[in-house]
Amino acid sequence: MKYLIRTYGCQMNVRDSEAVGALLDAAGHERVAEERDAELVIVNSCTVRDMAERKAIGKCGNLIAMKEGRGKGGETGKVKVVGLMGCAVKRMGADVFKSLPGLDFAVGPRRFGLIPRLVERCLAGERRILEVPDADEVPTGLDAHPDTSRGQSGFACFQSYVTVLLGCDNRCSYCIVPDVRGHEYSRPAREVVAEVAALASRGVREVCLLGQSVLRYGMRNKAWTEADAPSPGGYTEAFPRLLEALNGIDGLARIRFTSAHPKGCTDELVRAYREFPKACRHLHLPVQSGSDRVLAEMGRHYTRAEYLAAIAKLRAFDPEFAITTDIIVGYPGETEADFEETRSLMEEAGFDNAFVFKYSPRPGTRSAALPDDVPTEEKERRDQVLLADQQRRGLARNQKLIGTVREVLLEGPSLRNAARWSGRDSGNRIVVFEPTRKLAIGELVQVKITEAHPQILVGELA
Ligand code: 5AD
Ligand code: SF4
Repeated sequence: MKYLIRTYGCQMNVRDSEAVGALLDAAGHERVAEERDAELVIVNSCTVRDMAERKAIGKCGNLIAMKEGRGKGGETGKVKVVGLMGCAVKRMGADVFKSLPGLDFAVGPRRFGLIPRLVERCLAGERRILEVPDADEVPTGLDAHPDTSRGQSGFACFQSYVTVLLGCDNRCSYCIVPDVRGHEYSRPAREVVAEVAALASRGVREVCLLGQSVLRYGMRNKAWTEADAPSPGGYTEAFPRLLEALNGIDGLARIRFTSAHPKGCTDELVRAYREFPKACRHLHLPVQSGSDRVLAEMGRHYTRAEYLAAIAKLRAFDPEFAITTDIIVGYPGETEADFEETRSLMEEAGFDNAFVFKYSPRPGTRSAALPDDVPTEEKERRDQVLLADQQRRGLARNQKLIGTVREVLLEGPSLRNAARWSGRDSGNRIVVFEPTRKLAIGELVQVKITEAHPQILVGELA
């Protein structure tokens, strides 16, 4: 069948969709770019905030309407099968069919390996199939990657996500992820190393290792076994040891990973950063709040001072080390004073970028029992204040890089201005420049920075 996958949510979802695409390709289905050409559409959903879930469910509803010949504006597509996958399925369970009676199948995280089989069952006439995983389930289908040589992947072929840790055992008060993604499960290190080596041999230059709290790799279940050769550098922690193994893979230029919890910034991690040049000088380290009182309520298990100490360790060996973060504004009971603590923490931390989210109560989480008492307009105001601060800060930080030479992995012509090329430095900063010679996507070049903006650096080929 001609199929299309619509993805909402985080990188983990992007990666899951990629794997599903690869499985469908292997089963003989054909990827198309436009909804009106698709016979099978799968929506990969997110539920981290109410709005995210509504978008995915709304999209699914529109597709079902199209399938049933009641599309908006008389749209008639070719859609025959509509499926929903991902986090919202696990949250909603069988209720998903109350919201979406025309849905053909719904499959939660960790079970997407079943999708080709579910499609067959739908084609044989079955409807409303529900597959909801248990919290401890071992996933299937994770190692499927699109065959980029066929040129049909929507993803740049020199970069690849690699899921290493599923689920999350941190129990932050506001977060629904542990309920929907289940308990932590670390993929065996040997499997991860083999997967990255295979990707590198196919021309992948950069991998991004994914986990909700990726530095907890190998904590709940062992990732390394006695059968694995001991770490040459004497690393005892599973994640730094993984970096050591991946750093040795020929052809691979860069290793990124996300997301991280400050507790994972151990001395071994810092040593690994120092010793392994392929590990990118960037960490996405969500802080969520700058108020110790709010951090305690959230169950984050660190104080503002401990967070700042963690990033100081990273910047001690490389002052240009990029730190990005997530912030929640309007957590229950967040006062003006708490909010000002967040503002000052962001200034002290000197974040290179920040994503700000307005608190949204999620069913079943601890904080959902508290009154959602910060008014919407106030959440919006706090959001805007932090974004404006960050624009200023981002510009100031980028201005310090004028005159430096950045090593840039080329992603291709810039989306905004096709006369320029664009790529990223090790700190994940976007760098654009005029292509004064012939360039190839996936090439590493040196760019001298001449101009700074809050979100991008402009330079010339050095
Ligand atoms: N409301 C608002 N933001 C949330 N996040 C997680 N749960 C919630 C919630 N209930 C944010 C956190 C997290 C990011 C992925 O989403 O900042 O780091
Ligand atoms: Fe959304 Fe979280 Fe699921 Fe990612 S893990 S898709 S952010 S709910």
